[in-house]
Amino acid sequence: DTSALVDRFGRVAHDLRVSLTDRCNLRCEYCMPPEGFDWMPTAQVLSDDEVIRLITIAVEHLGVREVRFTGGEPLLRKGLERIVAATSALRTADGEVPESSLTTNGLGLAHRAGALAEAGLARVNISLDSLDRETYATLARRDRLPDVLAGIDAADAAGLKPVKINSVLMRGLNESHAPDLLAFALRRGFELRFIEQMPLGPPEMWKRGDMLTADEILQILGTRFDLAPQDPAERGAAPAELFTVAPTGDVPGGTVGVIASVTQPFCGACDRTRLTADGQVRTCLFSRTETDLRAMLRGGADDESIAEVWRVAMWGKLAGHGIDDPGFLQPQRPMSAIGG
Ligand code: GTP
Ligand code: 5AD
Ligand code: SF4
Repeated sequence: DTSALVDRFGRVAHDLRVSLTDRCNLRCEYCMPPEGFDWMPTAQVLSDDEVIRLITIAVEHLGVREVRFTGGEPLLRKGLERIVAATSALRTADGEVPESSLTTNGLGLAHRAGALAEAGLARVNISLDSLDRETYATLARRDRLPDVLAGIDAADAAGLKPVKINSVLMRGLNESHAPDLLAFALRRGFELRFIEQMPLGPPEMWKRGDMLTADEILQILGTRFDLAPQDPAERGAAPAELFTVAPTGDVPGGTVGVIASVTQPFCGACDRTRLTADGQVRTCLFSRTETDLRAMLRGGADDESIAEVWRVAMWGKLAGHGIDDPGFLQPQRPMSAIGG
């Protein structure tokens, strides 16, 4: 049976995001406190085989066509290459290889991009919030910019394309670095997306008024570049709104994206389902409930029973994140534990 993951608003989830660990080797300000969080106990984290089994159920029983590996930092998972290879060996109901991709901070990618490409990974999205070493070290609380740049180079060389770069802009910290990031991405042919900060980091930290909005981001880019919006009809379920950038001086033209999750929510087109590193299904980054698949796995449930519980969970998916609702509460788990 391959009846899909449909919710009561008619959305269909074809895109599975799998968090492989809640741990990270950086401490980005918008994501984690300096001391990190209380990490999940190892016994609660799914084994490689358990992760592979759930991905298999999603692809073979639930119509999932794309699998994205996230964290925390997914490169901290030693079995990543094996998990990617097992995912690439699956076939959807249409006989296609599911597209697998990775969202990473890039640390250590220099040594693994080749093996990941060989395992069947299609592409990577890499976080890079500034090209200035000091600003990077302040924001990520670790002086690792050169390692990230080496990771980006390796991904490009291994053909993990398009290489996308994610930048979260924070007021007074890295906002003025946005044009330099864009010049870098245009020169290198990377797809850069600027992201509005969401209330998913350290508790109580996010303030709606402090957040740099998509409009402000476009204004900053406009000081150095000419941007023209692309046809929204082409966007589909993609979170990024795309703009065509005209060539200027010695910088070639290209495209830039803005992910305005807060000021222009795209929840109505969402095609995602999520799995946490400890085996919980989440229907949304902001859902208030989770569904425990780990207990089913470890209790000996068969594939179709697990698939049916996953379908029921998705039916309960909320219409939207509700960040602007009066009683909005940040989810109990931070993004690093949910999966980015
Ligand atoms: P592709 O467009 O397929 O390359 O991936 P992506 O942009 O969806 O994935 P990525 O992991 O690079 O996420 C980029 C940003 O999108 C994240 O920082 C989030 O801000 C945002 N994002 C990802 N998933 C969701 C989601 O389910 N809901 C919302 N509101 N934002 C999301
Ligand atoms: N708001 C928006 N984006 C975030 N990311 C991490 N935390 C947040 C947040 N609070 C970004 C990371 C990474 C992607 C998965 O999500 O920078 O690129
Ligand atoms: Fe690590 Fe990503 Fe969080 Fe930064 S945003 S601390 S790289 S999980």
